[in-house]
Amino acid sequence: MPTLEWTGSALRLIDQTKLPDEESYVVCATSAMVAKAIRSMIVRGAPAIGAAAAYGAVLALRESDPKPGLAAIRSSRPTARDLAWALDRVLAAPDPLQEADRIARESVDACRRMGQLGAGLLPNQPRILTICNTGALATVDYGTALGVVRAAQERGLEPSVLVMETRPRAQGARLTTWELRGLGIPHRLIADGAAGRALQEGMVDVALAGADRIAANGDVANKVGTYPLALLCREHGVPFYVVAPLSTIDFHAPDGAAIPIEERDEREVTTFAPAGTRAFNPAFDITPAALVTSVITQLGVLRPPLREALSSLRVTTR
Ligand code: MRU
Repeated sequence: MPTLEWTGSALRLIDQTKLPDEESYVVCATSAMVAKAIRSMIVRGAPAIGAAAAYGAVLALRESDPKPGLAAIRSSRPTARDLAWALDRVLAAPDPLQEADRIARESVDACRRMGQLGAGLLPNQPRILTICNTGALATVDYGTALGVVRAAQERGLEPSVLVMETRPRAQGARLTTWELRGLGIPHRLIADGAAGRALQEGMVDVALAGADRIAANGDVANKVGTYPLALLCREHGVPFYVVAPLSTIDFHAPDGAAIPIEERDEREVTTFAPAGTRAFNPAFDITPAALVTSVITQLGVLRPPLREALSSLRVTTR
């Protein structure tokens, strides 16, 4: 069962809040239900959010007043660039459902292409460090950063993965380990704070991360904890690759400061704290372009200076 599927009249989602304990599905028959599923992270990961939003827009356009549903979807996860991009595509299309299907199909094609390009950068038996979940669950299928791991396995490179737990929602611990187990790829889980130790011990050849939004200068918004990971990689001379489709690039955001960073409920962080403890819970952080070795897109591997590389891409994609 893919991450999401159009049933003919509704959007069916695997419930990512229940994994890995339970494999269950949620059927969204209204745009409000899609907005709620995105906000509550039943569906998550930028490309998956984009495709879900596209089908949510299809539902909204079938409702007597599409506006509230569309507005709820648009504001549900503000950092993921794919969300607004997909909504705008569906709203401008003559056939909204056909466009949503196209977005979903293109996303899978892009992931497979990025996988091939990324695997081409890896040595034999690469020891990979990754954050969050960037696999099939975060996309329509195959994955971005985890798609590279998958392609490496398909090429016989024998990758192994250190999976960062990814507090506070534990996407690494709950989802990435689940996917890697299903794929038969060797992996070990580490606490987020153990990344520095793993790098110091020489246990990592390359770090792979996804992105929720990439600014025109190459600054990258991704799961909180990505920025310190990129700093560690720079300190230890380990390549830090970002794997993201063109739908994640926001040419209207000049740099990371222009990217809205979602702040989530404090209770996601205070699990182990005494009642009443306050928290700061940004869902994402910004990795400056200078810390990024390359951005792997479906059109090619972008190398620094990223501002120039991205702007040539903008010309190509016009
Ligand atoms: O809060 P999430 O789980 O939606 O965050 C997901 C990420 O940060 C991913 O790295 C990003 O969406 C790209 S993955 C395909």
